[in-house]
Amino acid sequence: TKVIVVNGPNLGRLGVREPDVYGNQDLETLRQDCERWGTSLGLEVKLRQSDDEAEVIGWMHQAVDQQTPVVMNPAAFTHYSYGLSDAAKMVTKAGLPLIEVHISNPSARDMFRKYSVISPVATATVTGMGFYGYKLALDAVAHLLAE
Ligand code: DQA
Repeated sequence: TKVIVVNGPNLGRLGVREPDVYGNQDLETLRQDCERWGTSLGLEVKLRQSDDEAEVIGWMHQAVDQQTPVVMNPAAFTHYSYGLSDAAKMVTKAGLPLIEVHISNPSARDMFRKYSVISPVATATVTGMGFYGYKLALDAVAHLLAE
């Protein structure tokens, strides 16, 4: 089964951006990690990143049309994009798993990070576990697909 791992704005800057919060490893490393974790779970992982809200929303529509489960770190879109929230809702309403991931624990940070417009429409959320959170999310997808 194919799974898309979608990353929102500024995550292309992993390794450079606030390494104290997001670690020293870059997006390419995350891609390789996710592909490897996926393979071990029998999942074909396609990792994507965009700073463009319209593009990320388009990937949700594609996921629905192609019946593809989603792992998503919506990054800052988490906190204000009702457009992405509505698009993510279409994914879970279609019966597909959508696992929200955050590298950091947003609740332990700024006030504006305490609320997610994605969590209410996601299947589940993983926070504060670094890149390993994507492994937990992929494991959750495999579990849900096997049910
Ligand atoms: C993030 C947390 C968000 O608040 C932030 O805007 C990000 C990354 C995380 O992975 O911890 O860009 O989603």
